[in-house]
Amino acid sequence: MNTEQQIDLTRIPEHIAVIMDGNGRWAKKQGQDRLFGHSFGVDAVRQTVNACQKLGVRYLTMYAFSTENWGRPKAEVDGLMELMVRTIVGEIPDLMKRKVRIHGIGDLEGLPEDCKAEMYNAIEVTKNNTGLHLILALNYSAKWEITKAVKKIAEKTKAGDLDPIAVNEELISANLSTAAFPDPELLIRTSGEMRLSNFLLWQCAYSEFYFTEVLWPDFNEEELYKAVIDFQFRERRFGKTSEQIINVE
Ligand code: IPE
Ligand code: IPE
Ligand code: MG
Repeated sequence: MNTEQQIDLTRIPEHIAVIMDGNGRWAKKQGQDRLFGHSFGVDAVRQTVNACQKLGVRYLTMYAFSTENWGRPKAEVDGLMELMVRTIVGEIPDLMKRKVRIHGIGDLEGLPEDCKAEMYNAIEVTKNNTGLHLILALNYSAKWEITKAVKKIAEKTKAGDLDPIAVNEELISANLSTAAFPDPELLIRTSGEMRLSNFLLWQCAYSEFYFTEVLWPDFNEEELYKAVIDFQFRERRFGKTSEQIINVE
């Protein structure tokens, strides 16, 4: 039985989030520039999208550039932005064929003009697609997102449009950039790092975490299937006891 066949198709996570990490180390191992690693990472994105589509995953969120990543050397930041533009433009025909719908979370307004324009264009041209929702976290950080949501809520309260009593978890979720998406059941991070790096802090409150040593450019369909299989062995208790969970099933 191959890896894909070991997956229980009745228990596929609806939303998978991925922290794509390890491009720089992968490039260094080949004696290459970090940007070489980033460009090879694009194929891993394609493979992840393919695998998610095959399994029937509905939402895939990919951390492509964090607010903190602006602190990298200028040549790397510029190269990443160029790669992003090239990739978005180049992939649109295939994404249309696959009926993938693109979304952006993060401060898209803070991106360079061409990158911002191509992101908005990709969101617009794919908006009627009915397949996988591919959510790109670009210039994203969870603390930025939560701060923005708190500010919005505070403004509505100040204007008298919102009673502080009405502030609850649903309202906070509804003011995040992920308002239209369910929380991810599974979060994958590559390259052996075991941290969130300011990604989806609110939304991952009850996600299952899967960490792999595989560096992002080496990630592929098979690796995604392995993560889903691992997820299917987890017992999601949400604060209850194991017995309660088993008795419900
Ligand atoms: C992830 O790979 C890609 C981005 C953060 C844009 P890294 O560039 O962080 O690779 P490492 O962690 O240095 O190996
Ligand atoms: C997280 O990776 C950001 C993205 C994958 C886009 P980093 O490589 O930037 O994270 P840290 O700095 O090691 O925590
Ligand atoms: Mg890294």
